[in-house]
Amino acid sequence: MAKEIKKIGVLTSGGDAPGMNAAIRAVVRTALAKGMEVVGIEKGYNGLLNEEFRPMDKHSVSDIIQRGGTILYTARCLEFMSDEGVRKGAEICRKHGIDGMVVIGGDGSFRGARDLANEGINTIGVPGTIDLDVACSDYTIGFDTAVNTALEAIDKIRDTSTSHERCSIIEVMGRHAGYIALWCGIGCGAEDILLPEKYDNDEQELINHIIDGRKKGKKHHLIINAEGIGHSESMARRIEAATGIETRATILGYMQRGGSPTCTDRVYASMMGSYAVELLSEGKSNRVVAHSKGKFVDFDINEALEMKKNIDEYEFLVGELLSK
Ligand code: F6P
Repeated sequence: MAKEIKKIGVLTSGGDAPGMNAAIRAVVRTALAKGMEVVGIEKGYNGLLNEEFRPMDKHSVSDIIQRGGTILYTARCLEFMSDEGVRKGAEICRKHGIDGMVVIGGDGSFRGARDLANEGINTIGVPGTIDLDVACSDYTIGFDTAVNTALEAIDKIRDTSTSHERCSIIEVMGRHAGYIALWCGIGCGAEDILLPEKYDNDEQELINHIIDGRKKGKKHHLIINAEGIGHSESMARRIEAATGIETRATILGYMQRGGSPTCTDRVYASMMGSYAVELLSEGKSNRVVAHSKGKFVDFDINEALEMKKNIDEYEFLVGELLSK
């Protein structure tokens, strides 16, 4: 029989993402409804190792569903990458009577969650990252808000780009993944979308496309460049030199991680937070919550970490087709 979970911890780890607060709220309220005690662990695994805990009651998560960032703070923790760090974390959990844990973060955070589960603490991962780069899930908390925030900025850059008849390179986040770039590119009707998964570094083709567009009477040329390719400033200089068209680079940066979550992020994060506690209450461990083929599901963390995710070929082709 599955052991009964009486007290759980919840933490956010890695880069913050809009909607993490909605997930924390769902974890706390679902656990309380099931008669569990909940502690919030501050600053990710760092806070676990430093015992930076706060008791969470119903009201501790009032008025946060609409807020960006994470009320529990977040961090990336080197010490938790070592066996010793994980063992220490598990010991601390036992000392505080924490027998279940919800970890909200990306793949890096799930490695820590898996290791903690191996040390006997029932642990569930919830995908929270603006990058959408969790292979087992079609959705990650924060992506929807991030692309909408970026799109609002890109629309503004487009106005000034048109007025000055310039070429604009707009660099969006995503670490090694191009999902934010692809969605922003399709969403703003970019002339070019550069994804780390696809870009062949053929800058001449890009230059030809810009010159061609100008000949056809285009007043601007928007290039959405993914962080995984980077070098937007030097790319702008080279394009300007080769085309004679004024070219500017804008790196959107951290604004993409902030702000009030969209309705999608609030609802999905709430569902996933609640689902994670359901799994704990069923005695499950070492699972990651996902949204796949239109449903909330869960996967073994090891299997999830081994999965590979690719840019959707059809989305990519449509992006290409509509930008030409
Ligand atoms: O994972 C989210 C993300 O914003 C990535 O898009 C980016 O590469 C990275 O985090 C930046 O990390 P940091 O906050 O450590 O600068």
